[in-house]
Amino acid sequence: MSKTKIAPSLLAADFGNLQQDVEMVNNSDADWHHIDIMDGVFVPNISYGMPVLQAIQKHATKPLDVHLMIVDPDRYITTFANLGAAVLTVHYEACTHLHRSLQAIKAEGMMAGVALNPHTNINLLEDIINDIDVVCLMSVNPGFGGQSFIENTYNKVKSLKELIVKKGATTLIEIDGGVTSKNAAALTAAGADVLVAGSFVFKSNDPITTIQELKNIAG
Ligand code: DX5
Ligand code: ZN
Repeated sequence: MSKTKIAPSLLAADFGNLQQDVEMVNNSDADWHHIDIMDGVFVPNISYGMPVLQAIQKHATKPLDVHLMIVDPDRYITTFANLGAAVLTVHYEACTHLHRSLQAIKAEGMMAGVALNPHTNINLLEDIINDIDVVCLMSVNPGFGGQSFIENTYNKVKSLKELIVKKGATTLIEIDGGVTSKNAAALTAAGADVLVAGSFVFKSNDPITTIQELKNIAG
């Protein structure tokens, strides 16, 4: 059994046939459903919000990994708990009181995630890493699917892994953006635990096989 988790991002799904795409993920080797919430303020794009997540939740059978690309995410922590999020990830750059936000997420029974933009140094997490369940390293600038993978991500994964080990933390490392069969093995070798893939999965001819392929490559 492979231990790297694969989280297909529904941002690249066919919104006209959302149920079908959610069920494809249910029936695949994927581990989580990755849900991208964008507010048009923190990132220059608006994706979808609560009613769509409610529709996804009705059909999804795997944990919902909700990635909030929104300003002041504290406003919606309870809302996303009620919508069935298993992992709730906020952006480091969007939180003035990150420790408080993480405690609020955990108090709602969810795993607490922190996403870092490509320019944000992993050492900023040194004093809070033991409170984080998942660090999501953005390997593209957040806001859009289908962008090219930023190569410096490998260095960030390695440094973050060192920090996690040094601090005796159990934090998972998730990679989000431009993940394909070309970089999956190198990412897990560097220390990644969860790979998000949008376009690579949903734009392929056979998404179920593509997910299986990613899972096998990632190891
Ligand atoms: C980008 C999102 C990603 C995106 C990944 O802002 O956070 O989850 O859907 O899409 P691909 O895999 O196409 O880069
Ligand atoms: Zn995402």
